Amino acid sequence: MEKKQIDWENLGFGYVQTEQRYVSNYKDGKWDEGGLTEDAGVVLNECAGVLQYAQTVFEGMKAYTTEDGKIVVFRPDLNAARMADSARRLEMPVFPEERFLEAVKEVVKANAAYVPPYGSGATLYIRPYMFGSNPVIGVKPADEYQFRVFVTPVGPYFKGGVKPLTLCVSDFDRAAPHGTGHIKAGLNYAMSLHAIVTAHANGYDENMYLDSATRTKVEETGGANFIFVTKDNKVVTPHSDTILPSITRRSLLYVAEHYLGLEVEERDVYLDEVKEFAECGLCGTAAVISPVGKIVDHGKEICFPSGMEKMGPTIQKLYDTLTGIQMGQIEAPKGWIQVIE
Ligand code: PLP
Ligand code: COI
Repeated sequence: MEKKQIDWENLGFGYVQTEQRYVSNYKDGKWDEGGLTEDAGVVLNECAGVLQYAQTVFEGMKAYTTEDGKIVVFRPDLNAARMADSARRLEMPVFPEERFLEAVKEVVKANAAYVPPYGSGATLYIRPYMFGSNPVIGVKPADEYQFRVFVTPVGPYFKGGVKPLTLCVSDFDRAAPHGTGHIKAGLNYAMSLHAIVTAHANGYDENMYLDSATRTKVEETGGANFIFVTKDNKVVTPHSDTILPSITRRSLLYVAEHYLGLEVEERDVYLDEVKEFAECGLCGTAAVISPVGKIVDHGKEICFPSGMEKMGPTIQKLYDTLTGIQMGQIEAPKGWIQVIE
């Protein structure tokens, strides 16, 4: 199969339309057979549930070309399970997890020419999503839904690749206790748009959100979880019921413990203690691990000893091991890598 002529090395994190996508519709209490289509358009009634009340959930994962030329997807079973959780929380019918995995496989395979080559620095981002599609005017769940999966080749999420980021402590809240912060619902991202535009306008790369109940604890950013390293080399990540349970973060904790022999802790992390950490990074499918050099809390700067030029040494090891597993250079734990054949 011949790859598309794309400048892989210089791709940003944007949408490139590829050839095939998967669509299945839910009506009269069941999902139809579903299948691939070349039609990237979605036609909806003006009163569709997603347009009026934002009834939509999504997922994000990546396909990679390994050193030996295989196309693989990283832990899609966890995305399938998380999407089922998201759907249940928004009163949407679950798209069966085995069918989710099959749809992802089909779309990646059908767009194999868009999977960036090994070593290019780019990957194929996979976006499954579903939404309420029939007219809804009283506030209630839709009766009909559409599930889709498209793919797009992407480069680094943050401009500048792995250059350390500068964050600001946000005055906006991302998620409420007992709200929807732990699921991947479009509404969580819509309400973060003003906060990110404000952060960018003030010269910051991202927001650090605090817990909205006490505003003392670190939560996450708009699109990634936090990972910290202590001066004695322990890996610490915030525990919270109102952040997205990142698959990258869960994988990194395993890698830290079982591949690098580091102690790991998932616990409350207070803003007050952040200045004590040696390293800080953002982790997620899009972010991979992006190092953080500085966090600004209302004019007060917290500068990590790892500095503004490169990743700290432990974050670098975590990055190398995780990406090594994803790209097939390092043996993966059982079940982490799905080969697309
Ligand atoms: N937190 C938020 C708000 C996200 O949007 C994402 C991206 O999916 C993550 C964390 C990271 O999750 P994952 O590692 O599963 O991609
Ligand atoms: C992902 O990492 O998959 C996300 O959905 C985050 C988003 C900022 C692109």
